[in-house]
Amino acid sequence: MDTSSLTEQARAAGLQAWNFRGRTLLPVVQGGMGVGVSAGRLAGTVASFDAVGTISSVDLRRLHPDLMERTGQLEGPEAKAQIDAANREALAREIARARGISQGRGLIAVNVMKALDQYETYVRQALESGADALAVGAGLPLDLPELARDFPQVALVPILSDARGVQLLVRKWEKKGRLPDAIVIEHPRLAGGHLGAAKVADLQDRRFDFDVVLPEVLAFFRQAGLEGRIPLVAAGGISSREDVQRLQGLGAAAVQLGTAFAVTCESDASEAFKEVLAGAKPEDLVEFTSVAGLPARAVRTPWLDKYLRLQERMQQHAHAKAHCTMWFDCLAHCGLRDGNAAWGQFCIDKVLGHALAGDVRKGLFFRGAGRLPFGTQIRPVRDLLHSLLGPLVPALPQEVAAA
Ligand SMILES: Cc1cc2nc3c(=O)[nH]c(=O)nc-3n(C[C@H](O)[C@H](O)[C@H](O)COP(=O)(O)O)c2cc1C
Repeated sequence: MDTSSLTEQARAAGLQAWNFRGRTLLPVVQGGMGVGVSAGRLAGTVASFDAVGTISSVDLRRLHPDLMERTGQLEGPEAKAQIDAANREALAREIARARGISQGRGLIAVNVMKALDQYETYVRQALESGADALAVGAGLPLDLPELARDFPQVALVPILSDARGVQLLVRKWEKKGRLPDAIVIEHPRLAGGHLGAAKVADLQDRRFDFDVVLPEVLAFFRQAGLEGRIPLVAAGGISSREDVQRLQGLGAAAVQLGTAFAVTCESDASEAFKEVLAGAKPEDLVEFTSVAGLPARAVRTPWLDKYLRLQERMQQHAHAKAHCTMWFDCLAHCGLRDGNAAWGQFCIDKVLGHALAGDVRKGLFFRGAGRLPFGTQIRPVRDLLHSLLGPLVPALPQEVAAA
C-alpha cells in the first residue's frame, strides 16, 4: 500500500498510520521476546506487513544447531568467550533472516536488555548487522547515544514504564545531544517478561496506567519544548482494535504487543511454548522476583510452581557462587550467582532454554496478563494484524487461507 493510501485508509478506519523517520508504517510493534521467541522469522514476517518486528538478542545461538553443537556443552573459564561469539554470530544471522523475509518493508528492530552482561556487545552487533532500530529495556540505557554515535540512521527506542523514568532519560540524553526516536511505555501490571517496577508490590501502582502515564509524558514533552518529536508506543494487555483506538486517542503513536505475537504461527518458539501461553487462564499467571532483581510475570507451570514454593528457603541460603551455573554469565548482576538474597534464586538461561525447547515441565514461560485476540488458537501474523487494524491488513479469503 502506498503512503498516502495507508494514511487515508487508517483515518477511514478510525486509526492513525505511524509516520516514523520518513516511513509510513502500520501503528503496531511486535515486542522483543527472549529467549528465541522473537527471532528473524517472526520479526521479518511482522515487518513484511509494514509494521515493526523486533528480534530479541539474548542467547540466540539456541536457535542454531551448529552453534549449540559448538557451545552447548562448554564448561570452564574459556566457555564464556565462545558462547558470546556464537551469540553474536546468531544475532547477525537472525537480522539477515528477518531482512530476507521483510524485503525492505517495515522496520527490523533489535531488543537488548540493559541488564545483560553482553549488553554493549549485542548493541554493537545489531548496529553493525544493519538493524533499523534498537529497543532497550530492563534498566535505563543512559549510555545508548554514545554506543550508537556512529550509526545516526538507527532509531534508538528506550523501554520505560512511568513519566519519571521518561523525564530522567530524556534530560540525560539531551545533554548528549540526542533524543530518543520513540519511547515504549510498557505497563508492568499487564506486560509479560521482566517488568518496569522496582518490586512486585508496586505493579498495581496507578502511575503506570496508560491514562495517567501518557498524558503526564506528553505534558512533560510540551513543557520541555519537545512536543510532537518523540512518538510513544504503548505496550501491555493490548488485544483489539478498540484498544489501539483508545491508546491513539490518549496520544500514543503506536502499540506494542508481545504475548499475542508469541503465539502466532510465525513465532520462533516451539508449538508447546505457544500452547502453554495460549492455554493459560488468568488464574495461572504469577508475578515473582527474577534473578535480574526485577519483577516478572509468567505462567505457573510445574517448574515455576515448585520454585515459588522453595523460593524463601533458597533465598535464606543464598550465597555467592564460584562461577555461573552455565559458565555464561548472561546477566551483569545475577541473584543466584552473586548470592543476592532479595533476588530470584534460579538459572534463568537454563529455564528459558527449556521453555524455548518446549519442555513444559522444566521451562519458564513468560506471558502478559491480558486476554488473547483468538483465545487458545495459534493463528498467522496476518490474522492478528487484521484483528487489530481491520481493513489496513486485509484478511485472506477463506479458500486461500485454507490452502
Ligand atoms: C515470552 C515473552 C518474553 C519477553 N521477553 C522480553 C525481552 O527479552 N525483552 C523485552 O524488552 N521485553 C520482553 N517481553 C515483553 C514484550 O516485548 C512486550 O512488551 C510485552 O509482552 C507486552 O505485553 P503483552 O504481552 O500483554 O502484549 C517479553 C514478553 C513475553 C510474553
